[in-house]
Amino acid sequence: MARRAADAAPFAARLLRWFAAARRDLPWRRTRDPWAIWVSEIMLQQTRVEAVKVPYERFLARFPTPASFAAASDDELLVAWRGLGYYRRARLLRDGARAVVAAHGGAVPADAGALAELPGVGAYTLGAVASIAFGLPAVAVDGNVERVVARHRGVRELVDAAPGRRAVRAQAEAWLDGAQPGDFNQAMMELGATVCTPKSPRCGDCPVAVDCVARAEGLAGELPRKKPPRPAVAVEARVALVVGPQGALGRRIAAGEPNAGQVELPGPGVLTSIDADGLAADLRERFGAKLAVAGVVATVQHAITHHRITLRAHAAAAATPTAIGALRWHALDGDTPWTTPSRKVFRAALGADGTLRA
Ligand code: ADE
Repeated sequence: MARRAADAAPFAARLLRWFAAARRDLPWRRTRDPWAIWVSEIMLQQTRVEAVKVPYERFLARFPTPASFAAASDDELLVAWRGLGYYRRARLLRDGARAVVAAHGGAVPADAGALAELPGVGAYTLGAVASIAFGLPAVAVDGNVERVVARHRGVRELVDAAPGRRAVRAQAEAWLDGAQPGDFNQAMMELGATVCTPKSPRCGDCPVAVDCVARAEGLAGELPRKKPPRPAVAVEARVALVVGPQGALGRRIAAGEPNAGQVELPGPGVLTSIDADGLAADLRERFGAKLAVAGVVATVQHAITHHRITLRAHAAAAATPTAIGALRWHALDGDTPWTTPSRKVFRAALGADGTLRA
């Protein structure tokens, strides 16, 4: 079914030859430890390679085995995952680690069926860990792989609906190199990340361009096709920034709310718009905190699924110790699981000594 140019070697052979020369030296490519590979694949699912490198090393130094992470408290989990966001992934990874301890003596099972049973291990993670750590013949289809396949084969169906998803997966399986499945999957991801990029693909550097349908038909800009995204809602959020010798005033996010267990700067929340005049009254109502709210000391941008948040932090002060109401002082060092938007505010507003920049 694949249209092949007369002089072209099989797809996987051309891809793997290219990958041998072009592969980036990434920390998770220096190990065969299935736990380390599992951790990396979870981190990489919603986070760019560059942003994963440092948290990956830090996480594995702290939690070198599934058993060590299985025993982590919520606070330790939140601190270890900082900078990566999407904390649900970390909780699911801990559920998976606990299942490895309970059902497999602490060793990640080298078996696709057993891996698939682990909490938090979906089709992508299963394929990635099975192929990269254990050399099992499974595909791992992420957004990069989807783009490479859809363009190369000219898949015109929506790749985020069942028929298109099935077509992409079937083609990846047909191409999979059974002898080197881990390298094949990583080569596909690498091609998507560095050559077959969403905008301005570098077809001149592509090892499989000769029989690429999108290239032949000028469709690279249109493929892959996806459902239209839900329009993002713009939010104008505000928080109070009260700093003192004990850190900053914050509130612990309650169980059942998004980001439960983390600590955030006080305000109505990052998904709620509020004007500058409303902030002080809101803090009084919500937390019983009587704060004097002054001008904006930091403005940061943050995106959460379909919200584009502009978050303004106002310098604020409590005249007396009891004026803080239900808010609490939380240290600014690495041990408090501050939310990502809160950390962005600290970076923008505070000097290295934890005081407001002039
Ligand atoms: N993205 C997801 N998994 C990856 C991997 N193993 N290497 C590079 N990028 C990735």
